Amino acid sequence: MLKILGIDKEKCIKCEKCIASCTVELFSVERKDNMEKEIHFEDPLRFCFRCAHCIAICPTEAILYEGADEVYNFKEAKNPSKLLSYEDFMKFSRSRRSTRIFKQKPLSEEEITQILEAMRFSPSASNRQNRYYIVLSKKEEIDFLSDKVATLMVRAKKYLKLKYLVIPFTSGLLRKRLLSPKTKISLDRFFDRRSKGVDQIFFNAPCVIILHAPPYSKMTASDAGIAITHGMLAAHSMGLGTCWIGFAQEYLWRSKKTRKQLGIPKNHNVHGVFIIGHPEQEFLRAPPRREINLNWKK
Ligand SMILES: Cc1cc2nc3c(=O)[nH]c(=O)nc-3n(C[C@H](O)[C@H](O)[C@H](O)COP(=O)(O)O)c2cc1C
Repeated sequence: MLKILGIDKEKCIKCEKCIASCTVELFSVERKDNMEKEIHFEDPLRFCFRCAHCIAICPTEAILYEGADEVYNFKEAKNPSKLLSYEDFMKFSRSRRSTRIFKQKPLSEEEITQILEAMRFSPSASNRQNRYYIVLSKKEEIDFLSDKVATLMVRAKKYLKLKYLVIPFTSGLLRKRLLSPKTKISLDRFFDRRSKGVDQIFFNAPCVIILHAPPYSKMTASDAGIAITHGMLAAHSMGLGTCWIGFAQEYLWRSKKTRKQLGIPKNHNVHGVFIIGHPEQEFLRAPPRREINLNWKK
């Protein structure tokens, strides 16, 4: 893993760009009597969170480091707007849709690896990269988890039967759901389709990716969400379809036993689940979205 070791005094042109780019102020300038100056790097308390901005910004490659070859190998970091225009980005992101009908064709290991790679490069709070991934690509493993998640609906059906006993002890969303006529219809449809072999949880997708992490801060869930978004957009660029599966996330959040069966450590929780596959449907149009809820303090 990346480690900043110091500054190559021979190469340093003292432009101070490293000082300006370091958010934890590990670079400093020493002004000498003879008008000369010297740039120093010091981190005795290990503030560096390995963002590599100093390496990426130094015009003379004067930052000494260990394990940062990826920073140099990526030449496209310069002029990123030439890679993709705003117009193309908007067309690309608006054309992504949640896919729920898939061809019964497995994903190749290369395709899955490419998506994971896109997730690896997504940002995270303090560059912590506190994210762990599980890939399910065997049908029996996906079916196993789908059956487990479906127990949420079994429980909901039981609640619904007892709704007049249960309602006095409920509040908020649960109460609203129990009272809504839509709940019974949705549950009946769910079990009807499931009995016909339609997986309404993972939609018979050939791959499921689960993100889990130990709690660190309130940012842990956001970090996972960003990684998943990157993975979904990468999959979209490869002609693959994806869908975030909140149901599975909700179930795994609650079920310690299934988390253990999946090999998720005790202190970790699940912050996102999504499916990937070759889409069997072609979207010809993109739907509208609500106007943005905006409070622009101009
Ligand atoms: C956090 C999150 C959880 C979701 N959970 C589910 C889910 O459990 N099942 C499902 O079919 N779709 C799920 N979706 C997909 C949304 O329904 C979908 O993104 C939304 O309707 C907008 O459609 P689009 O993705 O095609 O633009 C989820 C999406 C998000 C972002």
